[in-house]
Amino acid sequence: MNIAVFCSGSGTNLQAIIDAVKKEEIEAEIRLVVSDVLDAYALVRAKNADIKTLVVERRNFKTKAEFETEIIKNLEKENIQLICLAGYMKMLSSDFIKRYRNRILNIHPALLPSFKGTQGIKDALDYGVKITGPTVHFVDEGMDTGPIVLQAALEVKDDDTEETLVERIHKLEHKIYPEAIRLFVEGKLKIEGRKVRIINPNIKNQISKSKILNFGL
Ligand code: GRF
Repeated sequence: MNIAVFCSGSGTNLQAIIDAVKKEEIEAEIRLVVSDVLDAYALVRAKNADIKTLVVERRNFKTKAEFETEIIKNLEKENIQLICLAGYMKMLSSDFIKRYRNRILNIHPALLPSFKGTQGIKDALDYGVKITGPTVHFVDEGMDTGPIVLQAALEVKDDDTEETLVERIHKLEHKIYPEAIRLFVEGKLKIEGRKVRIINPNIKNQISKSKILNFGL
């Protein structure tokens, strides 16, 4: 299966996916890394791993449609079957989503449906939650609203700051995102309305449910 990863920033999730592919935990090829930010560190990670990159800056296109057409052209060229958003900060248009319906995954740093949006970690901390963690979900037309694939939880400590929480949540992200991608690639995810059923979960390498809920962080 051919995968594209979309990033706007540092790309630690991209790195986790690259590593999982390298270790053959995910039997797929990352054919393209797309970034809308010219100096995103994710692009360096892609280059270090010999992965083709595409930089598309929104300001170089008159309309969002033209911007996305350029992306789609390249996705088609690489015959991309799965798109993984990993810190990609642009909303995809409904036309784009329609074209890749049920083939776009995203990782969000809070337990959806709580704390949607771009500041999930800070919002959860400010709200005073005792438990938080990342969510991998399919992308639909809403902001962070698509069917949930995997979630992982950790305890918020009294002395946690945004920085300490970011670090621990990222560790969980780097476990559940490659795992969710592996399940997709192996055809183990079945979307039934809002619910994503994981077919035949008792297979090699899979993170058990109890591990997902408690990584000792
Ligand atoms: C992650 O926290 C992810 O949940 C959010 O954006 C961040 C990306 O981090 N969508 P990185 O670029 O993968 O390090």
